Amino acid sequence: MSNYSLPDLNKARFRSFGYRADIIRDALKMDETKSHLGDGLFYHVITYGCQANVRDGEVISGILEMMGYSHTELLEQADIIILNTCAIRDNAEKRVIGEIGFLQNYKRIKPSLILGLCGCMAQEDVVVKHIIDKFPSVQLVFGTHNLYELPQLIENIIVNNERSIKVYSQQGNIYEGLPSVRTSAFKASINIMDGCDKFCTYCIVPYTRGQQRSRLLDDVLAEARDLVARGYKEIMLLGQNVNAYGKDLDKENGDFARLLNEVAATGIARIRFMTSHPWDFTDEMIDAIANNDNIMPFVHLPLQSGSNEILKKMGRRYTNGEYIALFDKLKSRVRDIAISTDIIVGFPNETDADFEDTLRIVEYCKYDNAYSFIFSPRPGTPASKMEDAIDVEVKKERLQRLNARLAYYSKMNNLKWENKVVKVLVDGPSKNNPSVYAGYTPQSKLINFTLKEGNIGDIIDVRVTEGKKNSLNGEQE
Ligand code: 5AD
Ligand code: SF4
Repeated sequence: MSNYSLPDLNKARFRSFGYRADIIRDALKMDETKSHLGDGLFYHVITYGCQANVRDGEVISGILEMMGYSHTELLEQADIIILNTCAIRDNAEKRVIGEIGFLQNYKRIKPSLILGLCGCMAQEDVVVKHIIDKFPSVQLVFGTHNLYELPQLIENIIVNNERSIKVYSQQGNIYEGLPSVRTSAFKASINIMDGCDKFCTYCIVPYTRGQQRSRLLDDVLAEARDLVARGYKEIMLLGQNVNAYGKDLDKENGDFARLLNEVAATGIARIRFMTSHPWDFTDEMIDAIANNDNIMPFVHLPLQSGSNEILKKMGRRYTNGEYIALFDKLKSRVRDIAISTDIIVGFPNETDADFEDTLRIVEYCKYDNAYSFIFSPRPGTPASKMEDAIDVEVKKERLQRLNARLAYYSKMNNLKWENKVVKVLVDGPSKNNPSVYAGYTPQSKLINFTLKEGNIGDIIDVRVTEGKKNSLNGEQE
């Protein structure tokens, strides 16, 4: 066990004043042996959680392919299966533990199969200790800070027949130039930053992903220009809190408003971004969204709670009044903007009155789309230690009441689009009905439609024929 590096959530909390992440451009150490370890072998990566994890999954795939592995959709064909996990709520974790139990069957049939676990769960000490003790068939564990070490870790398993368990709890660095296999040929994500320093009291992300580290503007733009040159139509700028982009860099680098304007100037057809914390949304950012036709009129603006008391306990740094003021400004300055949100119910000792405050904001904002959750205590976070006398049944009732209102407004907003013509980027055949196509409108609404001419990856005009609860139906014009 001596050569293991185990995570430590206490260390993960550490932030040093004035910390500057190193930009490392040659982290991936390949040699003749490592670049052939996977020759003739197959990999499968299962990703849970947010878009940042999806992007990490693309990088993991890129590294595995450099090692000679080929992708397979079939678990029984795989020689290495990696679970790229999420720690945001307890149920996300339970699913992964269940999946490991299931994957052990494949390992019994094929003993050479490497089972690996990475992502946010791997950053939790309790999880890694559990894996070490209870799941000896999981030979590979690495964290969010060391994707680049994958070749050495796999080599250690294959050549030395040892377990490779290496997770670092650190503020983190920026790794440029890692390979990746993009999942789409026309829609791409660009990580503009990693980590988070907001420390909302319920959230585990600042512990699992380290200090906020922005990539240099020039590196982001180089990636965007390369995607444009390769024919990409849509770029999603990703970060735990994109609004804070650049705050950890020299002023000359510029902020998120500048980044938006400069990515818009590359000429890419569509730009999206995710996620925006209401706290540092500047007027310049709103101007950038309003003034560039290729920045899509859609903002995900997590509310979390409508009660000022709970917002304070959550450490959100805004009041419901400030949230509404920002919401109104976005609605008035950006034409046809759609706004979605995240809401947590059942935060420790949330009263009926607190919950009513949340409902009031929902009635006011009439969100286009929303994700709602029951509070889940996460290890190491301040909220997990707060006293909570609210019965779980009360929390479930609140969630149901909230969801009914959210669904009502989602449908009302979708109805408004009936008979209008919208621009749609054609994603491919619809998942539920392969005889129609699916794509997204500028407002990020899923639309299923009949395609008369054109191809996957084209942007076409679609007339909306029906607004439903979670999607639109339409016909190509
Ligand atoms: N419990 C429930 N929901 C959570 N979220 C984050 N942490 C927790 C938690 N401990 C929700 C927030 C966030 C979204 C990604 O997940 O609403 O915006
Ligand atoms: Fe899940 Fe958060 Fe990690 Fe994304 S950053 S994978 S949402 S815990």
